[in-house]
Amino acid sequence: QRWTRLPPGSTLIRVRADQLRAAMVVGLVRGGRIHSPAVRRAFRAVPRHVFLPEFSPEDAYRDEPIVTKRDDAGRPISSSSQPAIMGIMLDQLDVRPGHRVLEIGAGTGYNAALMAELVGPTGSVVAVDIDEDLVRGAEEHLMAAGSFSVRLVTGDGALGYPEGAPFDRIVLTVGSWDIQPAWWRQLVPGGRLLLPLSVRGSQLAVALDLVAGPPPGLHSVSVRSCAFVRLRGTGAGPDSSRALGRDGLAVQTADERPADPRAVCALLDAPGPEWPSPVRLAAVDLWDGLGLWLAVQQPDICRLLVSAAASDRAPSLLPVGLDGGTVGLLGSHGLALLVPGSRDGAGFDRRFPVAVRAYGPDGAELAARLAGQLDTWAAAGRPTATDLRLRAYPAGVAPAASSAAVVRKAHSQLVLDWPRNSVPSSPILER
Ligand SMILES: C[S@@+](CC[C@H](N)C(=O)[O-])C[C@H]1O[C@@H](n2cnc3c(N)ncnc32)[C@H](O)[C@@H]1O
Repeated sequence: QRWTRLPPGSTLIRVRADQLRAAMVVGLVRGGRIHSPAVRRAFRAVPRHVFLPEFSPEDAYRDEPIVTKRDDAGRPISSSSQPAIMGIMLDQLDVRPGHRVLEIGAGTGYNAALMAELVGPTGSVVAVDIDEDLVRGAEEHLMAAGSFSVRLVTGDGALGYPEGAPFDRIVLTVGSWDIQPAWWRQLVPGGRLLLPLSVRGSQLAVALDLVAGPPPGLHSVSVRSCAFVRLRGTGAGPDSSRALGRDGLAVQTADERPADPRAVCALLDAPGPEWPSPVRLAAVDLWDGLGLWLAVQQPDICRLLVSAAASDRAPSLLPVGLDGGTVGLLGSHGLALLVPGSRDGAGFDRRFPVAVRAYGPDGAELAARLAGQLDTWAAAGRPTATDLRLRAYPAGVAPAASSAAVVRKAHSQLVLDWPRNSVPSSPILER
């Protein structure tokens, strides 16, 4: 409140903002979010608070995402992403001086300004956003920050920006369901595409290098877990979450098979037996570790999500303390879910006891498979997104027999495996 009454350019604000920014960067480096000295320097140089004029410098320099626009239903559609994930992704993107970079999801313009620092005077940054009001805002913020080299464009990023192609780097700061053909086409040979990509409900920040082949493809050089708002426009993917209409719950399944909410409610109303597991889980394991393992391995994965406002109404179903939901397997006549293993809270390792509970006639069979997956994942060393390898090919190129999992999209198919934890496999590809 105090700060918002001061003019944004006042010396007091600037000095305070400099201190807060320095502290934020120290936190990001100490927390292992930024490794590259160039990225660290960019974060030091670009004033985040100038891109968030409605917020105090205190808020702007907290390591948190800040929602800047919502749709009519109140869902976030634009935000300044959490600095931690921005740092991680800028490290993944490996922007070099002189690079030509395309950003899809200009938002406030902050990330574009950071990348303008990284490409320097010999490079270029184009940032596209689908909403004209956001582009106008970003323009103002960039001017106020003294960052004059970014080119802002209003448009649908699913089409890339052919006028500026080819690019050394294309980065999406918005979640995508698929890899659009325009992005492949607009990369230079050996160029890098970085995008938050959805894999059966998990979202992964995947840095992919364009490889000539044969067969030509995009091969991951690094994978991290992330959570971005979704792409709108022609590239918007299917939404496979369905509200259950009770207790603020929703069920999310793999993209191609949305669940019938009434059938899920009927299953939940008939809980069957429960088996405690020796494996304990941390909150993050529902999305990244085990949750991601199931997403890759089991096409019938489902997640039960609970809105924060309703979490007190659905406590018995959700492992205590685990954030926002639980994970399981869903069939036509059965469901298996992870539930709290006992009334005990988390141990010193922040891991909770869990059990597998069966629902419906096929529940026991699904529960046995879920418990088996939990054991296999734990025995494989509890792999996370960082351990995952992802290779993407155009939709027409079919991977033949291989131990890797294949997730099919409209324009691409993803071949996923855990090279450190399984027998390395290289899928044979057939046209
Ligand atoms: C998380 S915000 C990006 C934050 C931004 N990089 C920053 O530093 O402030 C995601 C942005 O993607 C934009 N967006 C959504 N769909 C898009 C599309 N099809 N093309 C371009 N931008 C899109 C949204 O309007 C939103 O501003």
